[in-house]
Amino acid sequence: MDRIPVSGPWITAKEIAYVTDAVTNAWYGNANVWHERFEKAFAEYVGVKHAISLPHCTAAIHLSLLALKVGPGDEVIVPDCTWIASAAPVTYVGATTVFADIDPQTWCLDAKSFEACITTRTKAVIPVNLYGNMPDWDALRAVAARHNIAIIEDAAESIGSEYQGRRAGSFGVTGVFSFHGSKTLTTGEGGMLVTNDDAIRARALFLRDHGRPPGDRLFHNTEVAYKYKMSSMQAALGAAQLERVEELINRKREIFSWYAEELAGVAGLTLNHEAPGTKNTHWMVTAVLDKSLGLRKERLMELLAAEGIDCRPFFHPLSSLPAYAHSPEAGKARQRNTVSYRISPSAINLPSALNLTQAQVKCICACLKTTLSSAS
Ligand SMILES: Cc1ncc(COP(=O)(O)O)c(C=O)c1O
Repeated sequence: MDRIPVSGPWITAKEIAYVTDAVTNAWYGNANVWHERFEKAFAEYVGVKHAISLPHCTAAIHLSLLALKVGPGDEVIVPDCTWIASAAPVTYVGATTVFADIDPQTWCLDAKSFEACITTRTKAVIPVNLYGNMPDWDALRAVAARHNIAIIEDAAESIGSEYQGRRAGSFGVTGVFSFHGSKTLTTGEGGMLVTNDDAIRARALFLRDHGRPPGDRLFHNTEVAYKYKMSSMQAALGAAQLERVEELINRKREIFSWYAEELAGVAGLTLNHEAPGTKNTHWMVTAVLDKSLGLRKERLMELLAAEGIDCRPFFHPLSSLPAYAHSPEAGKARQRNTVSYRISPSAINLPSALNLTQAQVKCICACLKTTLSSAS
């Protein structure tokens, strides 16, 4: 029996044609044509002035922090439940990570918890559009504006999601995207930093090419910096996927609707929320189980894996990870972040690959329902 994968892309002849063109022609004087095409189309899609293609989203967060001059002595607030890449660059720049709680409905950064974590040292906040869900952006932006805190919007998982008609990635000083192979729009590995700020764009371009201005041919570096560039082949793949982005998003939403139909009325199970005025592009269909069912995510994954169904655990609170065991801030978060610690232990991401069929979803849901009923 073939296993049902948890995630994966949708590649067509268009992607193959564009990448073939890049590998054939994007050299010498044409070395940047695919980057320019992808970046221009991406900025237009998100509704911002600038887009900078990068090797991954982690680099986009790192460059955002550097361009905002975040460093030792500063604090940066992140939601406790997210992939560690949202937070790791805070450590790269020598700042302190502060872990705020998540909202019980959106699973994204909670505005009240965010505000309660602010100190005189807070320089930036990195809200995450978790699994494609949108946070309460009005509330988050109001808190950030009141305290003069820069927003880096982690839109890694949310291409095409919307809040009151605005697309994900356009809510902060910078927005960052991931094109990892698991994402809705993929370049294999890859990322994008978007911004309306000319100075941030210039600084990010300088820092991502070993501290030299774009176009420098004299190899005259004025700072020690980083090498964060995407290849033409990746940019061509991204350009093709972007031309198909509505198709990719519609498929994600369709997959979610199949699950929602099959799992409607299952007691103690909640799927991703779509608040009024928002569009959720459902990168990962996620099931949160009521604690009363007494089924931890690791056990549930094990039971589904035995049936050939691959799932992922809901992100563990970062403050619970060995990576932050010695962080005093993580210690405080473990006491404070009751929602993160309530939701995470009994929630999983269900298979959400773009090649998933409705028949497979029926089979996954039947299996999940049997597992839940034998657990209760
Ligand atoms: C929320 C979030 N932030 C950041 C990243 C980092 O993306 P990348 O792997 O492209 O560096 C990811 C990727 O999985 C993510 O899910």
